[in-house]
Amino acid sequence: KSNDYIVQSIEGNQLPISYEELEQAAKAALSPQAFSYIASGAGAEETAHKNKNAFQRYSIVPKLLNDVSELDTSISLFGKTYPTPFVLAPVGVLKQADEQGDFAVTRAASKFGIPFIQSTVSSFSIEEVGQSSDGPKWFQLYWTSLEDISFSFVKRAEEAGFEAIVVTIDTVTLGFREKDLFHGYSPLAHGYGQGNFESDDVFLSTLDEVSNSAIVDGIIKQINYPALNWSHIEKLKEKTSLPILLKGVLHPDDALRAVDCGVEGLIVSNHGGRQLDGVISSVDALPEIVNVVNGKIPVLFDSGVRRGSDALKVLALGADAVLIGRPYVYSLAVHGEQGVEQFLTTFLQDFNSSMTLSGVKDINQLKQMKIVHD
Ligand code: FNR
Repeated sequence: KSNDYIVQSIEGNQLPISYEELEQAAKAALSPQAFSYIASGAGAEETAHKNKNAFQRYSIVPKLLNDVSELDTSISLFGKTYPTPFVLAPVGVLKQADEQGDFAVTRAASKFGIPFIQSTVSSFSIEEVGQSSDGPKWFQLYWTSLEDISFSFVKRAEEAGFEAIVVTIDTVTLGFREKDLFHGYSPLAHGYGQGNFESDDVFLSTLDEVSNSAIVDGIIKQINYPALNWSHIEKLKEKTSLPILLKGVLHPDDALRAVDCGVEGLIVSNHGGRQLDGVISSVDALPEIVNVVNGKIPVLFDSGVRRGSDALKVLALGADAVLIGRPYVYSLAVHGEQGVEQFLTTFLQDFNSSMTLSGVKDINQLKQMKIVHD
């Protein structure tokens, strides 16, 4: 398996290999406003920087001579087996990176059996994305002020064959993103995030008139919902039989409450530093949460994963799967569907070679790996 990745990545790769160069290539491909929107964090970007720097404080201690000629990178989640421990994080408004947006991403991800999480503020509808590939898909929910719209989205996701619902709990209002405020830029206002709303009868029935500006205003009104609390999650549990994951958990108390509430999984995440600036890096939040959850439900992770060794550290710290955000968005901006495919090929090669060099042959062994903290 590892050798396949090596051969594929040598053939015809047109993307920069290093994340830093990939980011520069995306900067050249995108408008300054769109690039800033994707790249930046909230506030002074303290948390965005912490996400990156935190990895350097954790070190892998390889245990060798373990015959790692055959690797098995597969994992089981919610009763399904996936060939890699990776998931593509929900990223809204993908059409600003490429006309094919979510279609291109889900098609590329499907070639690796990697789940793609479609955002509430996706450029296309749940049904369109559902049909665009036969790969695994999960749906990310921003809770709406009018909860019938949320339930309508969840029902549509069930009917379109999505396999899980990811409720993002860290975005009850938008983070204070200084760069976007400077540019006066909102991708929603450009019509990049309305695919699910303009195709939803419950949402449309809330509008006095159906025009572009009414849709945009309606979306903003719907997804700002500071009243969100545990009772909503309990209600959602009754509405769907799909596994529910909470995304944006940083406090161990919330992790414990999530387990008590009966959700099926959680995602330790600070939204890539885009929400509350100054919060703990996801890597630093992870060990305590893994400890309190104690294997009762899967703990997934995102924010700051750029290379195979980053993913290795996160799994060794106890995460069950790893979400990737900006790297695939940049790859999409630079080279569309092929770009995402090439990124995943290279990333998996890096990950597989990191596993090999650490002396672990499967994800269970990886999770037992020794890791030390400065
Ligand atoms: C996001 N993220 C996000 N999360 C979510 O739950 N719903 C969404 O619609 C979006 N939209 C979005 C847009 C853009 C441009 C970015 C960069 C991110 C957050 C995303 O799911 C994930 O938490 C972070 O991107 C992970 O951090 P890295 O990998 O980008 O560092």
